[in-house]
Amino acid sequence: MTILAAEGSYVWDGEGNRLLDFSSQMVNTNIGHQHPGVVEAIREQAAKLCTIAPAHVNDARSEAARLIAERTPGDLNRVFFTNGGADAVEHAIRMARLHTGRHKVLSRYRSYHGGTDTAINVTGDPRRWPNDHGNSGVVHFHGPFLYRSQFHAENEAQETERALAHLDQLIRFEGPDSIAAIVLESVPGTAGIMVPPPGYMAGVREICDRYGIVFIADEVMAGFGRTGKWFAIQHFDVVPDLLTFAKGVNSGYVPLGGVAIGDQIAATFAERAYPGGSHLLGSSAGHRRRGRHHQRDDRGEDRRERRPHRRRRARAGPARPRRETSVGG
Ligand SMILES: Cc1ncc(COP(=O)(O)O)c(C=O)c1O
Repeated sequence: MTILAAEGSYVWDGEGNRLLDFSSQMVNTNIGHQHPGVVEAIREQAAKLCTIAPAHVNDARSEAARLIAERTPGDLNRVFFTNGGADAVEHAIRMARLHTGRHKVLSRYRSYHGGTDTAINVTGDPRRWPNDHGNSGVVHFHGPFLYRSQFHAENEAQETERALAHLDQLIRFEGPDSIAAIVLESVPGTAGIMVPPPGYMAGVREICDRYGIVFIADEVMAGFGRTGKWFAIQHFDVVPDLLTFAKGVNSGYVPLGGVAIGDQIAATFAERAYPGGSHLLGSSAGHRRRGRHHQRDDRGEDRRERRPHRRRRARAGPARPRRETSVGG
């Protein structure tokens, strides 16, 4: 399908039909298309400074990191920016491996974590198969999913208990000292929307603590308000050691992702060089995106406030002159 324009929740095809964008493209345009504040922030930053190496400090990048860290749960106080979600997952795994000195990574079947080398191997669903040579150090397990229970469970409590027992047993058979990280989508997305039953995420946290395994919550799809809180893991009152994000952080107007890092893992890299980073324009869009709207409502529910504005713009179509308001904080 040809798309010639987009605004708010709508796209316009090559024949001028206005269509509701039910999928938000790749489930990433959390604030809708062409938000004038974000577009303006990108324009301003491009005019000022298009690119700078990750080693340099920059105000737009630092401000974006501060605003994100204010909203991530617990001690996830540092932010390492990347250029997308898979990139963030790659870095989170690399950090976990360096932090623990271990190599293996566990993740669930029925999951998606991105299309780059390690991220696609961590992915549990068949998108992994063409790229899986069995040598990536990834071991998969069954997560909870009562509808198609692997554990013959009849209710959520049984599903939680049996799924956790399965994970614990797998860790003991694999060798706890060989496992760097467990990677889990807080609420799985593209492999099926499978909200973890009560107690499951807390149980995974407890297992990670018991064996010294890093808990990586993948919030690339579920983060930034998608589930009604800033991050889906906040529904379960659990703080992971690392949290990956992308998509909704700036609605994908410019590629941006990242890893929010807990204090313990940040300490590992306090004296140790760690390579990588993101493009500056992405951070500037994240910063503006996070500005005024995000200060208004600290529960990740800001989209509701803007609906009338978006409806007004959608009715008018993309040709109408837009308000060039700044959304910067
Ligand atoms: C949970 C999750 N992790 C990682 C990714 C990969 O993100 P990206 O497409 O930005 O590389 C996705 C993409 O859909 C995702 O849903």
